[in-house]
Amino acid sequence: MAALGPDVDPLAALRKLRRDRGSVFSKRRGEIYVSDPVLAKEILANNEGLFREHSDFFRIRTGMFAPRSAQVEIGRAARVLLRRYTHDHADELPALVARLAPGSVWPDAGNRLVYEHFRPALIGDAPSATLRETVDQVVERAVLAGARGRCSRLARHRFRARVTRILCAELAARRARPSAKPADLLDVVAHAATGRTRDADLAEVFLSCLFAVAGSVGFLLGWSLYLVGTTVSEPAHPAWVVREALRLWPVAWQFGRTPSREHQLAALTVKPTDEVVVCSYLVHRDPAHWSEPDEFLPGRWASGTGQEAFIPFGWGPHACTGAGVATQVTETLVGLITSAYRLDVAAPSSQPQVSAALAPPWFHLRLDPFSLPEGR
Ligand code: HEM
Repeated sequence: MAALGPDVDPLAALRKLRRDRGSVFSKRRGEIYVSDPVLAKEILANNEGLFREHSDFFRIRTGMFAPRSAQVEIGRAARVLLRRYTHDHADELPALVARLAPGSVWPDAGNRLVYEHFRPALIGDAPSATLRETVDQVVERAVLAGARGRCSRLARHRFRARVTRILCAELAARRARPSAKPADLLDVVAHAATGRTRDADLAEVFLSCLFAVAGSVGFLLGWSLYLVGTTVSEPAHPAWVVREALRLWPVAWQFGRTPSREHQLAALTVKPTDEVVVCSYLVHRDPAHWSEPDEFLPGRWASGTGQEAFIPFGWGPHACTGAGVATQVTETLVGLITSAYRLDVAAPSSQPQVSAALAPPWFHLRLDPFSLPEGR
């Protein structure tokens, strides 16, 4: 994915470009943005093979984690494992929420809460102290919004080398004694290895799982609570809140694709040297598909319409396999919090934190319990 460039507010810049140049536009030379929903889905579905096979989730330093059959198996097994875990451990969520009150700093609090809940599903319920400390540190130093910027490049490089070494050792041990059924996401990744797969590549895919679970789900929870706490809307169904948060501020806000050959994209000619960026942030604010597109209106989901311009989890063969679990657990948490507490959000800025993921602004959340009716 191309760097964001020096824009002060990259999202405002993109909105302006779309207004001025239409729904398919060149942001800078070789970088074409797409905000038209129909075209966005066609590109992601890639039925005519006009783009190289690509998945942001499986992108590793050396290119794409391969083969595709291993990608598909990891996606499938991760979904099965997380579904089962979510079902079996749902009763632990109220205690985690209770530990939040009365004051917490977000979005970090959301990332930590989600990570703590899913840690056994990621690395097992009895990990070695080294493994646990290492993965805990990855969350603190790489997953939390803005965490990367707090370390020097050299420190990040050294940390990454240490994380890779420890994950590789763990993955190699698991490959040497495969279990019948994966007990956690490390097993899921290890099981998908073929004879030639490098442990370092598996480690990168495991880190994608960690970023998806602790990062993306945590940010989605953060956005949902921030929006509920800063708007005056009527109490809304948690499912609508989460959907509307995903529409307005899609955590995965742009997906890059490379043309496999020169072809026409709307009025532009794209070449294999270009990057085509499907921008879910712009798709979700297309005024032709959404009334009052910049407003947080959870009630718009009451009728169940709007799906045609809604791609928070991508589209087509590479669409997110964790979408169901991610929305389900977030809805549960939003429901637990908004039904028991009055939310008081204090945010010094309303600017989202824009990087590869779209994270909410920093905010302080105070939770005041609703008083129980007399006699209860
Ligand atoms: C709010 C949370 C999440 C968001 C917004 C999200 C978003 C996305 C998006 C947009 C894609 C498509 C990327 C592309 O087309 O290049 C994707 C793919 C994927 N996601 Fe998620 N994701 C989330 C949570 C999860 C979770 C919890 C998992 C479980 C490990 C997961 C597993 C995957 C996998 C395996 C793929 C690749 C599918 C493939 O290429 O076959 N995601 N995700």
